[in-house]
Amino acid sequence: MRTVIVNGTVIHATGREESDVSIDNGRIEAIGARAAGGIAAGPDDTIIDARGCFVIPGGVDAHVHMQLDTGSTSSSDTFESGSIAAAHGGTTTIIDFAEQRAGGNVLESFEKRMAEAESQCAIDWGLHQVLGGVDKQALIDARTLIEREGVASIKLFMAYPGRLYSDDGQMLRALQMCADTGMMAMVHAENGLAIDVLIEQAIEAGNSSPEFHSRTRPPELEAEAVHRAAVLSRVAGNAPLYIVHLSSSHALHEVVDARTRGTNIFAETCPQYLHLSLEDHLGKGWPDGAAYICSTPLRSKHEHHHADLWEGLRVDQLAVVSTDHCPFCLREQKLANGEAFNVVPNGIGGVEHRMDLVYQGVVAGHISEERWVEVCSTAPAQLFGLPQKGRIAQGADADIVIYDPAATTVISASTHHMNLDHSAYEGMALRGAVRTVLSHGNVIVDNGKFFGRAGNGKYLRRNVSHNIR
Ligand code: URP
Ligand code: ZN
Ligand code: ZN
Repeated sequence: MRTVIVNGTVIHATGREESDVSIDNGRIEAIGARAAGGIAAGPDDTIIDARGCFVIPGGVDAHVHMQLDTGSTSSSDTFESGSIAAAHGGTTTIIDFAEQRAGGNVLESFEKRMAEAESQCAIDWGLHQVLGGVDKQALIDARTLIEREGVASIKLFMAYPGRLYSDDGQMLRALQMCADTGMMAMVHAENGLAIDVLIEQAIEAGNSSPEFHSRTRPPELEAEAVHRAAVLSRVAGNAPLYIVHLSSSHALHEVVDARTRGTNIFAETCPQYLHLSLEDHLGKGWPDGAAYICSTPLRSKHEHHHADLWEGLRVDQLAVVSTDHCPFCLREQKLANGEAFNVVPNGIGGVEHRMDLVYQGVVAGHISEERWVEVCSTAPAQLFGLPQKGRIAQGADADIVIYDPAATTVISASTHHMNLDHSAYEGMALRGAVRTVLSHGNVIVDNGKFFGRAGNGKYLRRNVSHNIR
Protein backbone atom coordinates (compact mmCIF):
# COMPACT_ATOMS: atom_id res chain seq x y z
CA MET A 1 0.00 0.00 0.00
CA ARG A 2 1.32 3.42 -0.99
CA THR A 3 1.28 6.49 1.23
CA VAL A 4 1.68 10.02 -0.09
CA ILE A 5 2.64 12.93 2.17
CA VAL A 6 1.38 16.09 0.49
CA ASN A 7 1.68 19.86 1.00
CA GLY A 8 4.64 19.77 3.41
CA THR A 9 8.03 21.47 3.35
CA VAL A 10 10.71 18.80 3.13
CA ILE A 11 13.80 19.72 5.13
CA HIS A 12 17.09 18.08 4.24
CA ALA A 13 20.46 18.67 5.87
CA THR A 14 21.41 20.43 2.65
CA GLY A 15 18.32 22.52 1.91
CA ARG A 16 14.55 22.50 1.66
CA GLU A 17 11.92 21.92 -0.97
CA GLU A 18 8.17 22.28 -1.37
CA SER A 19 7.58 18.68 -2.36
CA ASP A 20 5.35 15.68 -1.85
CA VAL A 21 6.82 12.37 -0.73
CA SER A 22 5.51 8.95 -1.70
CA ILE A 23 6.20 5.76 0.23
CA ASP A 24 5.94 2.21 -0.99
CA ASN A 25 6.91 -0.99 0.77
CA GLY A 26 8.44 0.83 3.72
CA ARG A 27 10.78 2.91 1.59
CA ILE A 28 10.69 6.36 0.08
CA GLU A 29 9.53 5.86 -3.49
CA ALA A 30 9.72 9.38 -4.88
CA ILE A 31 9.97 13.06 -4.00
CA GLY A 32 7.96 15.29 -6.29
CA ALA A 33 8.29 19.06 -6.39
CA ARG A 34 4.86 20.68 -6.24
CA ALA A 35 5.98 23.29 -8.75
CA ALA A 36 6.22 20.38 -11.19
CA GLY A 37 2.84 18.95 -10.19
CA GLY A 38 3.78 17.10 -6.99
CA ILE A 39 2.84 13.43 -6.64
CA ALA A 40 -0.59 12.33 -7.77
CA ALA A 41 -2.18 9.98 -5.25
CA GLY A 42 -4.13 6.99 -6.57
CA PRO A 43 -7.53 5.93 -5.21
CA ASP A 44 -5.96 3.25 -2.97
CA ASP A 45 -3.23 5.47 -1.59
CA THR A 46 -3.24 6.79 1.96
CA ILE A 47 -2.81 10.56 1.92
CA ILE A 48 -1.22 12.46 4.80
CA ASP A 49 -1.68 16.22 4.59
CA ALA A 50 1.39 18.00 5.99
CA ARG A 51 0.26 21.55 5.18
CA GLY A 52 2.09 24.05 7.38
CA CYS A 53 4.47 21.37 8.62
CA PHE A 54 8.02 20.24 8.05
CA VAL A 55 8.62 16.78 6.64
CA ILE A 56 11.92 15.58 8.10
CA PRO A 57 13.84 12.32 8.40
CA GLY A 58 13.10 10.47 11.64
CA GLY A 59 15.51 11.26 14.43
CA VAL A 60 18.53 9.07 15.09
CA ASP A 61 19.57 9.06 18.75
CA ALA A 62 23.03 7.50 18.76
CA HIS A 63 23.52 7.44 22.53
CA VAL A 64 20.90 5.96 24.85
CA HIS A 65 20.95 3.64 27.88
CA MET A 66 17.76 1.62 28.27
CA GLN A 67 17.57 -0.72 31.29
CA LEU A 68 21.24 -0.05 32.02
CA ASP A 69 22.52 -2.23 34.85
CA THR A 70 24.54 0.02 37.19
CA GLY A 71 25.22 -2.73 39.72
CA SER A 72 22.77 -1.37 42.30
CA THR A 73 19.85 -0.52 40.01
CA SER A 74 18.77 -0.39 36.38
CA SER A 75 17.89 2.71 34.36
CA SER A 76 14.13 3.04 34.54
CA ASP A 77 13.18 2.81 30.85
CA THR A 78 13.06 -0.64 29.34
CA PHE A 79 13.77 -0.98 25.64
CA GLU A 80 10.00 -1.06 25.24
CA SER A 81 9.07 2.05 27.24
CA GLY A 82 12.13 3.97 26.07
CA SER A 83 11.65 3.22 22.40
CA ILE A 84 7.97 4.18 22.58
CA ALA A 85 8.89 7.46 24.32
CA ALA A 86 11.52 8.07 21.63
CA ALA A 87 8.90 7.55 18.93
CA HIS A 88 6.60 10.11 20.55
CA GLY A 89 9.46 12.59 20.30
CA GLY A 90 10.17 11.97 16.63
CA THR A 91 13.10 9.60 17.04
CA THR A 92 12.84 6.48 14.88
CA THR A 93 16.27 4.94 15.50
CA ILE A 94 18.14 4.47 18.78
CA ILE A 95 21.61 3.06 19.35
CA ASP A 96 22.27 1.61 22.81
CA PHE A 97 25.28 -0.25 24.20
CA ALA A 98 26.38 -3.77 25.00
CA GLU A 99 28.82 -3.58 27.90
CA GLN A 100 31.89 -5.73 28.46
CA ARG A 101 33.55 -5.19 31.82
CA ALA A 102 37.16 -5.93 32.82
CA GLY A 103 37.76 -9.66 32.59
CA GLY A 104 34.43 -10.20 30.87
CA ASN A 105 33.81 -11.68 27.44
CA VAL A 106 32.86 -9.22 24.69
CA LEU A 107 30.86 -11.66 22.57
CA GLU A 108 28.88 -12.88 25.57
CA SER A 109 28.13 -9.32 26.66
CA PHE A 110 26.85 -8.58 23.16
CA GLU A 111 24.61 -11.64 23.04
CA LYS A 112 23.21 -10.83 26.49
CA ARG A 113 22.31 -7.31 25.42
CA MET A 114 20.78 -8.53 22.15
CA ALA A 115 18.55 -10.87 24.11
CA GLU A 116 17.44 -8.03 26.39
CA ALA A 117 16.56 -5.68 23.54
CA GLU A 118 15.15 -8.10 20.98
CA SER A 119 11.37 -8.17 20.75
CA GLN A 120 11.02 -5.03 22.87
CA CYS A 121 11.84 -2.09 20.58
CA ALA A 122 9.06 -0.22 18.82
CA ILE A 123 11.55 1.53 16.52
CA ASP A 124 14.74 0.39 14.79
CA TRP A 125 17.74 -0.02 17.01
CA GLY A 126 21.42 -0.83 17.04
CA LEU A 127 24.16 -1.49 19.57
CA HIS A 128 27.62 -0.07 20.16
CA GLN A 129 30.05 -2.29 22.03
CA VAL A 130 31.54 -0.93 25.28
CA LEU A 131 35.03 -2.22 25.97
CA GLY A 132 35.33 -1.80 29.72
CA GLY A 133 38.35 -4.06 29.91
CA VAL A 134 40.57 -3.66 26.86
CA ASP A 135 42.80 -6.71 26.49
CA LYS A 136 43.97 -8.88 23.58
CA GLN A 137 40.87 -11.05 23.48
CA ALA A 138 38.50 -8.06 23.78
CA LEU A 139 40.08 -6.48 20.70
CA ILE A 140 39.89 -9.72 18.72
CA ASP A 141 36.23 -10.09 19.69
CA ALA A 142 35.42 -6.49 18.77
CA ARG A 143 36.75 -7.18 15.26
CA THR A 144 34.55 -10.27 15.11
CA LEU A 145 31.49 -8.18 15.89
CA ILE A 146 31.92 -6.08 12.74
CA GLU A 147 31.21 -8.88 10.28
CA ARG A 148 29.17 -11.14 12.50
CA GLU A 149 26.76 -8.62 14.04
CA GLY A 150 27.19 -5.40 12.08
CA VAL A 151 28.62 -3.52 15.05
CA ALA A 152 30.58 -0.55 13.71
CA SER A 153 31.54 1.25 16.92
CA ILE A 154 33.14 0.67 20.29
CA LYS A 155 32.97 2.84 23.40
CA LEU A 156 35.90 3.55 25.69
CA PHE A 157 35.94 5.29 29.08
CA MET A 158 38.69 7.62 30.26
CA ALA A 159 36.55 8.08 33.42
CA TYR A 160 35.41 5.62 36.12
CA PRO A 161 38.71 4.00 37.27
CA GLY A 162 38.21 0.48 38.57
CA ARG A 163 34.97 0.11 36.65
CA LEU A 164 35.06 0.85 32.93
CA TYR A 165 38.28 2.88 32.72
CA SER A 166 40.91 2.42 30.02
CA ASP A 167 44.43 3.68 30.71
CA ASP A 168 46.38 5.36 27.91
CA GLY A 169 47.94 2.09 26.80
CA GLN A 170 44.55 0.43 26.52
CA MET A 171 43.19 3.47 24.73
CA LEU A 172 46.03 3.35 22.22
CA ARG A 173 45.60 -0.36 21.49
CA ALA A 174 41.85 0.04 21.02
CA LEU A 175 42.35 3.09 18.80
CA GLN A 176 44.89 1.19 16.70
CA MET A 177 42.23 -1.47 16.15
CA CYS A 178 39.79 1.27 15.09
CA ALA A 179 42.32 2.84 12.71
CA ASP A 180 42.83 -0.58 11.17
CA THR A 181 39.17 -1.58 10.84
CA GLY A 182 37.36 1.74 10.43
CA MET A 183 35.35 1.18 13.61
CA MET A 184 34.31 4.40 15.32
CA ALA A 185 35.78 4.86 18.80
CA MET A 186 33.28 6.64 21.02
CA VAL A 187 35.05 8.08 24.04
CA HIS A 188 33.78 9.29 27.40
CA ALA A 189 36.48 11.92 27.81
CA GLU A 190 37.12 12.92 31.42
CA ASN A 191 40.31 12.43 33.43
CA GLY A 192 38.93 9.81 35.81
CA LEU A 193 42.00 9.46 38.03
CA ALA A 194 42.13 13.20 38.79
CA ILE A 195 38.35 13.35 39.26
CA ASP A 196 38.48 10.55 41.82
CA VAL A 197 40.98 12.55 43.88
CA LEU A 198 38.71 15.60 43.81
CA ILE A 199 35.71 13.49 44.79
CA GLU A 200 37.59 11.96 47.73
CA GLN A 201 38.72 15.41 48.90
CA ALA A 202 35.21 16.89 48.61
CA ILE A 203 33.66 14.07 50.62
CA GLU A 204 36.41 14.30 53.28
CA ALA A 205 35.69 18.03 53.57
CA GLY A 206 31.97 17.35 54.06
CA ASN A 207 31.00 18.68 50.64
CA SER A 208 28.47 16.11 49.45
CA SER A 209 25.64 18.26 48.00
CA PRO A 210 24.64 17.75 44.32
CA GLU A 211 26.57 20.74 42.99
CA PHE A 212 29.83 19.08 44.09
CA HIS A 213 29.21 16.50 41.40
CA SER A 214 29.96 19.27 38.94
CA ARG A 215 32.68 20.95 41.02
CA THR A 216 34.66 17.71 41.20
CA ARG A 217 34.47 17.21 37.43
CA PRO A 218 35.85 20.57 36.20
CA PRO A 219 35.79 21.37 32.48
CA GLU A 220 39.59 21.39 32.40
CA LEU A 221 39.56 17.66 33.12
CA GLU A 222 37.12 17.09 30.27
CA ALA A 223 39.27 19.17 27.91
CA GLU A 224 42.46 17.40 28.97
CA ALA A 225 40.91 14.02 28.19
CA VAL A 226 39.62 15.18 24.79
CA HIS A 227 43.12 16.42 23.99
CA ARG A 228 44.69 13.10 25.06
CA ALA A 229 42.13 11.04 23.13
CA ALA A 230 42.83 13.11 20.02
CA VAL A 231 46.60 12.68 20.36
CA LEU A 232 46.21 8.93 20.85
CA SER A 233 43.88 8.72 17.85
CA ARG A 234 46.51 10.41 15.66
CA VAL A 235 49.33 8.25 17.01
CA ALA A 236 47.17 5.19 16.38
CA GLY A 237 46.99 6.08 12.68
CA ASN A 238 44.03 8.47 12.71
CA ALA A 239 41.35 6.30 14.25
CA PRO A 240 37.78 7.57 13.78
CA LEU A 241 37.12 9.27 17.13
CA TYR A 242 33.78 10.46 18.50
CA ILE A 243 33.65 12.34 21.79
CA VAL A 244 30.39 11.61 23.61
CA HIS A 245 28.36 14.06 25.71
CA LEU A 246 30.69 17.03 25.25
CA SER A 247 29.61 19.64 27.79
CA SER A 248 32.07 22.51 27.96
CA SER A 249 33.68 25.30 25.96
CA HIS A 250 37.04 24.00 27.11
CA ALA A 251 36.45 20.57 25.58
CA LEU A 252 35.02 22.09 22.42
CA HIS A 253 38.18 24.15 21.93
CA GLU A 254 40.20 20.94 22.08
CA VAL A 255 37.98 19.37 19.39
CA VAL A 256 38.49 22.41 17.16
CA ASP A 257 42.24 22.37 17.78
CA ALA A 258 42.45 18.65 17.05
CA ARG A 259 40.59 19.15 13.80
CA THR A 260 43.07 21.78 12.66
CA ARG A 261 45.75 19.11 13.23
CA GLY A 262 43.93 16.73 10.92
CA THR A 263 42.48 14.48 13.62
CA ASN A 264 39.62 12.27 12.50
CA ILE A 265 37.51 13.61 15.37
CA PHE A 266 33.78 14.24 15.79
CA ALA A 267 31.79 15.23 18.85
CA GLU A 268 28.27 15.14 20.14
CA THR A 269 26.64 17.27 22.77
CA CYS A 270 23.29 16.64 24.49
CA PRO A 271 20.20 18.76 25.20
CA GLN A 272 21.07 18.99 28.89
CA TYR A 273 24.30 20.85 28.08
CA LEU A 274 22.44 23.25 25.81
CA HIS A 275 19.60 24.06 28.23
CA LEU A 276 20.48 23.23 31.85
CA SER A 277 23.09 24.64 34.22
CA LEU A 278 24.95 23.97 37.45
CA GLU A 279 23.40 26.93 39.25
CA ASP A 280 19.77 26.63 38.14
CA HIS A 281 19.47 22.85 38.22
CA LEU A 282 22.27 20.92 39.88
CA GLY A 283 22.42 23.58 42.61
CA LYS A 284 18.90 22.84 43.87
CA GLY A 285 20.01 20.71 46.85
CA TRP A 286 18.31 17.44 47.82
CA PRO A 287 16.25 15.81 46.51
CA ASP A 288 15.75 17.81 43.29
CA GLY A 289 19.43 18.36 42.53
CA ALA A 290 19.89 14.59 42.29
CA ALA A 291 17.82 14.62 39.10
CA TYR A 292 20.59 16.61 37.40
CA ILE A 293 23.55 14.44 38.38
CA CYS A 294 24.95 13.18 35.09
CA SER A 295 28.42 12.78 33.62
CA THR A 296 29.86 14.80 32.06
CA PRO A 297 28.22 17.24 34.50
CA LEU A 298 26.14 20.34 33.94
CA ARG A 299 28.29 23.46 33.63
CA SER A 300 28.12 26.95 35.10
CA LYS A 301 25.84 29.40 33.32
CA HIS A 302 28.44 32.10 33.98
CA GLU A 303 31.03 30.52 31.68
CA HIS A 304 29.46 30.76 28.18
CA HIS A 305 29.20 27.01 27.66
CA HIS A 306 25.64 27.21 26.30
CA ALA A 307 26.48 29.90 23.77
CA ASP A 308 29.66 28.15 22.66
CA LEU A 309 27.93 24.80 22.23
CA TRP A 310 25.13 26.30 20.13
CA GLU A 311 27.73 28.07 18.02
CA GLY A 312 29.68 24.82 17.78
CA LEU A 313 26.58 23.14 16.43
CA ARG A 314 25.97 25.94 13.97
CA VAL A 315 29.42 25.79 12.42
CA ASP A 316 29.82 21.99 12.57
CA GLN A 317 32.44 21.85 15.29
CA LEU A 318 29.86 19.62 16.98
CA ALA A 319 28.43 17.04 14.61
CA VAL A 320 25.57 15.48 16.56
CA VAL A 321 23.08 15.94 19.39
CA SER A 322 22.28 12.70 21.21
CA THR A 323 20.49 12.41 24.54
CA ASP A 324 22.66 10.06 26.62
CA HIS A 325 19.20 9.07 27.87
CA CYS A 326 19.83 7.36 31.21
CA PRO A 327 16.78 7.83 33.45
CA PHE A 328 16.51 7.00 37.15
CA CYS A 329 13.45 7.73 39.27
CA LEU A 330 14.16 10.34 41.91
CA ARG A 331 13.49 8.85 45.31
CA GLU A 332 13.69 5.11 44.80
CA GLN A 333 16.67 5.17 42.46
CA LYS A 334 18.64 8.44 42.49
CA LEU A 335 18.50 8.60 46.30
CA ALA A 336 18.50 4.89 47.09
CA ASN A 337 22.16 4.95 48.22
CA GLY A 338 21.82 8.14 50.25
CA GLU A 339 22.24 11.89 49.90
CA ALA A 340 25.83 12.27 48.71
CA PHE A 341 26.64 13.22 45.12
CA ASN A 342 29.15 10.38 44.70
CA VAL A 343 26.60 7.60 45.38
CA VAL A 344 23.83 8.88 43.10
CA PRO A 345 23.46 6.97 39.81
CA ASN A 346 24.45 9.24 36.94
CA GLY A 347 22.08 10.15 34.16
CA ILE A 348 19.22 12.28 32.83
CA GLY A 349 16.20 11.01 30.90
CA GLY A 350 15.41 12.88 27.71
CA VAL A 351 15.01 10.54 24.74
CA GLU A 352 11.50 11.90 24.14
CA HIS A 353 12.46 15.56 23.92
CA ARG A 354 15.66 15.74 21.86
CA MET A 355 14.06 16.88 18.60
CA ASP A 356 12.00 19.53 20.43
CA LEU A 357 14.85 20.75 22.62
CA VAL A 358 17.20 21.16 19.67
CA TYR A 359 14.40 22.81 17.69
CA GLN A 360 14.36 25.53 20.37
CA GLY A 361 17.77 26.47 18.97
CA VAL A 362 16.06 27.09 15.63
CA VAL A 363 13.41 29.19 17.36
CA ALA A 364 16.12 31.21 19.13
CA GLY A 365 18.07 31.70 15.88
CA HIS A 366 21.11 29.64 16.90
CA ILE A 367 20.84 27.13 14.05
CA SER A 368 18.83 26.65 10.86
CA GLU A 369 16.12 24.03 10.32
CA GLU A 370 18.54 22.26 8.00
CA ARG A 371 21.19 22.08 10.66
CA TRP A 372 18.56 20.81 13.14
CA VAL A 373 17.83 17.93 10.78
CA GLU A 374 21.51 17.30 10.23
CA VAL A 375 22.61 17.11 13.88
CA CYS A 376 19.56 15.13 15.02
CA SER A 377 19.28 12.70 12.13
CA THR A 378 21.49 12.88 9.05
CA ALA A 379 24.91 13.16 10.72
CA PRO A 380 24.42 10.43 13.34
CA ALA A 381 23.12 8.08 10.64
CA GLN A 382 26.19 8.78 8.50
CA LEU A 383 28.73 8.58 11.29
CA PHE A 384 27.37 5.32 12.64
CA GLY A 385 27.01 3.48 9.35
CA LEU A 386 23.30 3.77 8.59
CA PRO A 387 22.98 5.06 5.00
CA GLN A 388 19.31 4.04 4.87
CA LYS A 389 18.47 6.39 7.78
CA GLY A 390 18.56 10.14 8.32
CA ARG A 391 17.61 11.17 4.79
CA ILE A 392 14.47 11.92 2.83
CA ALA A 393 15.73 10.34 -0.37
CA GLN A 394 14.53 7.83 -2.90
CA GLY A 395 15.14 4.30 -1.62
CA ALA A 396 15.82 5.33 1.99
CA ASP A 397 13.77 3.80 4.83
CA ALA A 398 10.49 5.70 5.17
CA ASP A 399 11.21 6.83 8.73
CA ILE A 400 9.64 10.26 8.56
CA VAL A 401 8.45 12.90 11.02
CA ILE A 402 5.84 15.53 10.29
CA TYR A 403 6.73 18.42 12.55
CA ASP A 404 4.44 21.36 13.24
CA PRO A 405 6.53 24.49 13.87
CA ALA A 406 3.47 26.49 14.99
CA ALA A 407 2.39 24.10 17.76
CA THR A 408 3.27 24.77 21.39
CA THR A 409 3.69 22.33 24.26
CA VAL A 410 4.99 22.26 27.83
CA ILE A 411 7.26 19.47 29.05
CA SER A 412 5.98 17.64 32.11
CA ALA A 413 6.51 14.30 33.83
CA SER A 414 2.72 14.09 34.03
CA THR A 415 2.43 13.88 30.24
CA HIS A 416 5.69 12.39 28.99
CA HIS A 417 5.92 8.73 27.99
CA MET A 418 9.26 7.89 29.58
CA ASN A 419 9.11 5.61 32.60
CA LEU A 420 10.40 8.39 34.81
CA ASP A 421 8.78 10.13 37.78
CA HIS A 422 10.26 13.55 37.05
CA SER A 423 11.53 15.59 34.13
CA ALA A 424 14.75 17.57 34.06
CA TYR A 425 12.85 20.02 31.83
CA GLU A 426 9.64 20.24 33.90
CA GLY A 427 7.54 23.26 32.91
CA MET A 428 9.66 24.21 29.91
CA ALA A 429 7.49 25.79 27.20
CA LEU A 430 8.34 24.65 23.69
CA ARG A 431 7.61 26.00 20.25
CA GLY A 432 7.14 23.28 17.65
CA ALA A 433 5.86 19.75 18.14
CA VAL A 434 5.91 16.33 16.54
CA ARG A 435 2.61 15.65 14.82
CA THR A 436 3.03 12.34 13.00
CA VAL A 437 5.80 9.73 13.01
CA LEU A 438 6.26 7.00 10.42
CA SER A 439 8.55 4.01 10.82
CA HIS A 440 9.11 2.01 7.62
CA GLY A 441 6.13 3.85 6.16
CA ASN A 442 3.73 2.94 8.97
CA VAL A 443 2.24 5.64 11.17
CA ILE A 444 3.40 4.84 14.71
CA VAL A 445 2.51 8.16 16.35
CA ASP A 446 -0.18 10.62 15.37
CA ASN A 447 -1.28 13.62 17.43
CA GLY A 448 0.14 12.10 20.61
CA LYS A 449 -1.39 8.64 20.10
CA PHE A 450 0.83 5.59 19.70
CA PHE A 451 -0.09 3.15 16.91
CA GLY A 452 3.13 1.11 16.82
CA ARG A 453 3.98 -2.11 18.56
CA ALA A 454 6.80 -3.20 20.84
CA GLY A 455 8.97 -5.63 18.91
CA ASN A 456 8.31 -4.10 15.50
CA GLY A 457 11.67 -2.32 15.54
CA LYS A 458 14.41 -4.04 13.56
CA TYR A 459 17.98 -4.63 14.71
CA LEU A 460 20.28 -2.56 12.49
CA ARG A 461 23.50 -4.00 11.18
CA ARG A 462 25.80 -1.06 10.56
CA ASN A 463 28.77 -0.30 8.30
CA VAL A 464 32.18 0.79 9.47
CA SER A 465 32.97 4.34 8.50
CA HIS A 466 35.59 4.00 5.79
CA ASN A 467 33.94 6.93 4.07
CA ILE A 468 34.98 9.33 6.83
CA ARG A 469 38.53 8.13 7.37
O1 URP B 1 25.53 10.31 33.47
C1 URP B 1 25.59 9.55 32.52
N1 URP B 1 25.94 10.00 31.36
N2 URP B 1 25.31 8.25 32.65
C2 URP B 1 25.39 7.28 31.64
C3 URP B 1 26.72 6.63 31.50
C4 URP B 1 27.69 7.45 30.70
O2 URP B 1 28.71 7.85 31.25
O3 URP B 1 27.44 7.71 29.53
ZN1 ZN C 1 29.63 8.64 29.46
ZN1 ZN D 1 26.12 7.49 28.07
